[in-house]
Amino acid sequence: MTFDMPRGGPEAPWWDRKFETGRAEYIDRPDSGEKCHRALRGLDRLQRLTLGYRTVVRHALAQLDGVDSPRVLELGAGYGRVAQRLLDRHPTARVTVSDVNPRVVERLRAGPLGRHPRVTTAVLDATDIDAPDGVWDLAVCATSAHHLPPAGVAALLREGTRVARRLLIVDGWRSPLLLAAAPLMLLTGGLPHAHDGVISLRKVYSSAALYALAARCGAPVRLRTRFAPPGCLVAVATRPAPRRPGAVEHHDNRARHGHRAQHDG
Ligand SMILES: C[S@@+](CC[C@H](N)C(=O)[O-])C[C@H]1O[C@@H](n2cnc3c(N)ncnc32)[C@H](O)[C@@H]1O
Repeated sequence: MTFDMPRGGPEAPWWDRKFETGRAEYIDRPDSGEKCHRALRGLDRLQRLTLGYRTVVRHALAQLDGVDSPRVLELGAGYGRVAQRLLDRHPTARVTVSDVNPRVVERLRAGPLGRHPRVTTAVLDATDIDAPDGVWDLAVCATSAHHLPPAGVAALLREGTRVARRLLIVDGWRSPLLLAAAPLMLLTGGLPHAHDGVISLRKVYSSAALYALAARCGAPVRLRTRFAPPGCLVAVATRPAPRRPGAVEHHDNRARHGHRAQHDG
């Protein structure tokens, strides 16, 4: 199975392919030390200014509607602001705050989340989650999917829906027009953040790419995507519930008797 595809999707036009870049962000470079930290700090300011965290938390809460004492996994947590806001807004949610970078998790452990009674921290790779099936009600991956190559996003879709009933991905909306936001990045975070911000905009995935990767990820993942202001792609991935044995029997009988197969929802 090949996952190699433009981030604008298999049918991406030439200008979208030109817009794409393979350059690494400071956040992804193990040697970038202080620059990685400054880029994360700048992203944090930008997210607060553009109400990015609020968008993520609003969609996460909507996915948790009706679930008592939900268990949530945050993947690629960075500063952990999404987890913090989620805990503030939901009085019974328990959150596992994780990141692939051990230094990021160390910082989370040393801060308020490390002392929070409803928080567990963990070093976890979103593409190979070291946890059994169905441990969480919701996995949240905010502003992180574009850090992964296409095969990594396919793995995130497969793994996120394995360990959690639902996977919420929120990332930037793919559009060259959003490059107009570059001056805002300079103002909110300085050079390392502007560097990473511009690369991010060129690396974010389109809805079409996510649908194509879900179809190839090796698990029966269903996806819904939408645009959310000010410039976010919101995707919810689930797997269909296993069929009840009775339902399978009924479906098979109908097929055997020449009826058209029904969508089993
Ligand atoms: C741009 S920051 C986003 C931080 C935070 N979610 C937010 O919304 O501000 C991306 C984070 O994803 C993490 N990351 C990158 N690759 C990852 C992977 N394979 N698994 C888990 N986290 C990853 C990085 O270490 C970084 O902390």
